[in-house]
Parts: sequence; structure tokens; C-alpha cells
Amino acid sequence: MGVVDEIKERLDIVDVIGAYVPLQRAGRYYRALCPFHAEKTPSFYVFPDSQRWHCFGACGEGGDIFTFVMKREGWDFATALEELARRAGVVLRPRTPEQAQAEEENARLKAAVAEAARYYHHLLLHAPEAARAREYLARRGLSSETVLRFQLGYSLPAWDALRAYLTGRGFTPDELVRAGLLVERDDGSTHDRFRDRLMIPIRDPHGETVGFGARTLEADGVPKYINSPQTPLFDKGRLLFGLDMARDAIRREECVVVVEGYMDVMQAHQAGFGNVVAQMGTALTETQVRLLKRYTRRLILALDPDAAGVQATLRGLEVAREALDRELTPVFNPRGLVGFERRLGAEIRVLTLPAGHDPDDLIRQDPGRWPVLVRESLPVVEFVLGQLLRQTDLEDAKGRARVVEAMLPLLRDVGDPVERETYAQKVARALRLDARTVLARLYEAERQAAQRTPLVTGREAVRREPPNEASRAEAEGRQRTADLEGYCLATFLSQPWLLDAVNRTLAEWDIPPLQPGDFHDPTCRAALEAWEEMLAEGMADPSILRRRLPEPVALRLDGLPEPPSDLSDEQWLREGIQAALRLRERNLRHRKAELRALTEEALPPEVDRYGQALEENARALLRVQQALYNRCWALSSTWVETPFIEGEPR
Ligand code: UTP
Ligand code: MN
Repeated sequence: MGVVDEIKERLDIVDVIGAYVPLQRAGRYYRALCPFHAEKTPSFYVFPDSQRWHCFGACGEGGDIFTFVMKREGWDFATALEELARRAGVVLRPRTPEQAQAEEENARLKAAVAEAARYYHHLLLHAPEAARAREYLARRGLSSETVLRFQLGYSLPAWDALRAYLTGRGFTPDELVRAGLLVERDDGSTHDRFRDRLMIPIRDPHGETVGFGARTLEADGVPKYINSPQTPLFDKGRLLFGLDMARDAIRREECVVVVEGYMDVMQAHQAGFGNVVAQMGTALTETQVRLLKRYTRRLILALDPDAAGVQATLRGLEVAREALDRELTPVFNPRGLVGFERRLGAEIRVLTLPAGHDPDDLIRQDPGRWPVLVRESLPVVEFVLGQLLRQTDLEDAKGRARVVEAMLPLLRDVGDPVERETYAQKVARALRLDARTVLARLYEAERQAAQRTPLVTGREAVRREPPNEASRAEAEGRQRTADLEGYCLATFLSQPWLLDAVNRTLAEWDIPPLQPGDFHDPTCRAALEAWEEMLAEGMADPSILRRRLPEPVALRLDGLPEPPSDLSDEQWLREGIQAALRLRERNLRHRKAELRALTEEALPPEVDRYGQALEENARALLRVQQALYNRCWALSSTWVETPFIEGEPR
């Protein structure tokens, strides 16, 4: 038995979750107000039988003890594993020698960076050479409490001050180079990377320092900031400055404000606006959005009002919209059939700063103005419309049509139909079009989405040829259903292009993409999550993946069933689609059983709710099964889809 199973066996989900939320017994299950969204009637359920939880309310999420603590505490899988192992009294086995070595190395580098931060901090507070830095901070209005909380520091002008200090404490120059603290010259000698600068430690979400931003004290002439280079510890795209300190405030305020710079964050926190983090000069990355998603689904992007800044904001919005999960929302097509569509399950707003201001000076001048700007931040639909209008000649009919087309995907992301229509009307007004014209385009786009969702009646289903039994059995054998999750994971890991290709096909079939949450085994989930991140970074490689993961996950990877070896791309695609669909089918069946159990014991108002959920579930299941048994088999070498099957209302 793996550690994960051992932990699950020893910890009861009712105890684990009960320690966070008061659980009420209700028949065979427990329920509570959902800890992940505000609600008045409980829709959060814990199922002792399956040791799983699910929220049937607004957030619609669910999982096991691992997902619960990860979400609730904002932990990554490795941390959740350590913590739950500790609570369960399970000893985590030592890692593979390779992993142990990498870990030891990382620990050394972390220790060096932490020691450097202490050293710089001490210098800032006490060194005579740091007088100018202290004056600078006073001029920028940063208090000594802020200096302390952010552990700000100062690096001496000398070329070897830090090197001398840290080598004196047992670190080798080689290690210090790898930690990004020293720079190696061509001749192999080294010198301090940061000299005569204000040192700003950058921490990971757990509060451990992993790098520095170093600001010059000069007015101009030199680069304003020198940052730590990419190191095994420091990866700009995976970090957000200030997140370690902002976590609680983000949860409390139920939103996060993303700004551009170090100074903006420090000034905001100092003024009591604790839910502010910075993206450190690069465009927002998908990894960063995912990091934030652990704490809130409401993002406010406060970025520069200048043209480049707006472009960056628009790119950031794209990333954010891509990275956030989409929820299933029913849409109706003209024949009254229901289809499902994925809509953005998050709220993104844009805070527009007054021209010539950044949050730093704005908050300094008038702290009361910040919360007003936050409150007045525009929903993304309105912001983008404003931007498009600014770039469009309204006399040009083609230009106006382009604005409408550009707005459609955003409009369709709006979950609430009334809100959606209101926005559509706004678009129409702004373009001096008849509202009906825009609405017609919107409905048309929705209808197209709904029509791509075939529903087959019982009669139709019977009339269709059943899939070839022999080929199906053969495929199932290969599938090694005993380890469905492992097989699925192995398939996707063996072909880095496959996940994206499968998800695109599923999207065409109106089936939500395969996600880490589809796996019940936390090790598979953690592996897929890390894999997605590597794919996003464009460097997916299973052997690197293995090294990035905690030992139980790496062990699981070693024991994965082997997918077939000599498949064509097309066969791989089919293999991937089938694996994903089987997993999804199992999950939907599971959900169905849970909902059935709930309906049996529910009271009238709830019965309706579960009834609806059951219906939705049934439709999703039908679509998956159809895809699995009809569409997949139609994938031929020419890659034609089965023709649309006419459906009838039931
Ligand atoms: P800003 O120029 O807005 O910096 O760049 P700032 O934090 O407001 O600093 P002050 O107010 O001028 O002192 C925004 C962010 O872009 C990155 C830093 O992360 C900075 O906080 N940046 C900027 C660099 O990495 N290097 C640079 O040379 C400039
Ligand atoms: Mn600034």
C-alpha cells in the first residue's frame, strides 16, 4: 500500500474536515455551510462511505481529504502530503537517491539565500554605508515596520562582501553562483551580483526567501532593478511578490489585486491593503493565475494605464481567462434542447489607474482613494469594450462588426443570462447598433454551441449499430481497467502533445477538458498538475517531471501501466480520448450515486435542487457515453466525425 492510501486509511474524512467546519449529521452523510463560498443554506456534503466531499452549491467542487486541505490551507500537494502524513502518524519513506540529492542541494541553496537576506537586512539597519539606503526608504515613505516585515536589506558596494561573508559560513562559491547570489566571470572567478542596492527579498507562498529584487539608489543611468536570475529556487513566472503575506487578506477580502511592482505592494500593505501582490515586471503567467486560484476566484488586475500597459493587461486577461476553470452551464437551442457550455467560473476585473500614477504614489498621496478604485474596477467585459472602442473608427462598418465579433467570446463567458444580455445591450449602444443585432449574433453563437451537442433518444440509440464487440474488448484489455487512472496518466505522459489535442477534441464535443480533478488518486492528480505546468512552460519531459515531484508521486510514476508503444499519432489521439472519457464516465457515475443518495433523504426544496443536478449529471453522462461508444469509433484515418445525430426532445 502506498503512503497515500495508508494516510487515507488512517484518517477519516469526517474528522479531517470536521476540524475545519462544524459538520452536521444528516442521514448517511454530513453537511455544512460550504467553506469555499458564502452561502446561507448548507450545500457542502461529506460522504463517509466514499471518503469524499462535494459542494452542490455555487462552487460545485469536490474531492478527498487531500483536495480539501490543499484548497483550504492553500497548500501544494507535497505540503498536504507531509501534513496529513504527520497527522496520520505515517512516516514518509526516504526519497530516491536522485531526489534526495536534488532536495539536499535545494535546501543548501535556500539556506544560502536565507542567510544572504539576513545579512543584507542587518546591513540596512546598522551599516554606516547603508545611510543612503535608509534615507531613500524614508523618502519613499516606507516605515521601519515595513522594512522589518518585508525584511528589506542593503548590499554593500564591494565586489566580494557577500561572497566573503557566506563562504566564511561554509557555502562554496559554486553554490552561491547556483543560488543566483554571485556572478561567474569568464575566467571562472566570481563576484557579488548585487552591489550598493536596496535588497527586496522575494519569497515563495510559504514565506521562504528564494530570490531578490535589487533596486538602485541612483536616479538613473543604471538598470532600476536587478533581479535574481532563474535558479532552481527562483522562477519569476511561478512566483508573485507579496503572496506569502497576502494569503490571509486575500481569503478574507475574497479577492486579490494584482499590481506591477515591488514598491506598489509594499506601499499597499503598509497602508493596510493586504490583498495586493505583484507580478514583477513580466506578463501574468498561467502558473501565477493558478497559484492565485487556490485562494480566490476573484482577480482584479491593476495595471498601467499607458498603451503598453493596456496591451499587457489584455494579454494578462487572456492568460487569466485561459487558466481559470470553466463551469458547465446549460444553453438552449431553438428546438428546445439543452446543451452544456463551459463558462468562466471566475470574476476578473480591471482597475484603471489615473494616468501618470502607480499604486505606490497614489496610495501615498491619498490612501482613501485606493479602496474606491478597487470598488470601481470594471468587469472585464466593460473594460475590453472600452479599449476596443478606443481603437475603432465607429464610422467604419467593418470596424464595428469586428468589435462585436471580438466581444462574443467574452459575452459568452458571462454565466448569468440577464447580465449577459445587459452587456450585449451595452455593446450595441456603444456601437450605435440595434440591440437586437448584437443579441442575434450572441444567440447564433450560443445556438451553434448547443447544436454541437447531440442528444440521442432511446429509439435512435437502439437503431445505431453497437460498437464492434471484439475491438472493444481488445481495447478494454489494453486499457487495464484495474488501473484506469494510472493508464490514463501514463498515456498522456508518453506523448507531450496529447493532452492538448485530446482536450481540444473534447471541447468540440462540448465535453469539459481532462483536469487533475478527474483523478481520485492524489498522486496522479499531483502528477498531472505538475505536467500541465510543464506543458505551459513548453518543457514537458517525464524524467524532469519525476524529479520535481515528492517521492510517493515519483513512485507512482514508476509503477504506471505501460501504454502501447508503436502507435501512430492518430491512434494515440484515440487512446487518449478514450482514457479521458472512461475516467470521466466513472466520475459521473459516481456523482450520480451520490446525488441519488441525497435525493432519497432530502426535503422538498432540496429535492428540486438535487433533481436538477441529477438531470444535468445524466445529460453529461450521456454525452460522455455517446462520445465513448459512437464518436471514438468513428475516428478514422481521415479523422471524420460522426455526422450530427438528429435528436428529439424527450
Ligand atoms: P516599475 O518601474 O513600475 O517599478 O516596474 P516600481 O516597483 O514601481 O519601482 P519604483 O517605484 O520605480 O521604485 C515594475 C516592476 O517591474 C520590474 C520590477 O519587478 C518592478 O517592481 N522591473 C522594473 C524590473 O524587473 N527591472 C527593471 O529594470 C524595472
Ligand atoms: Mn513605482
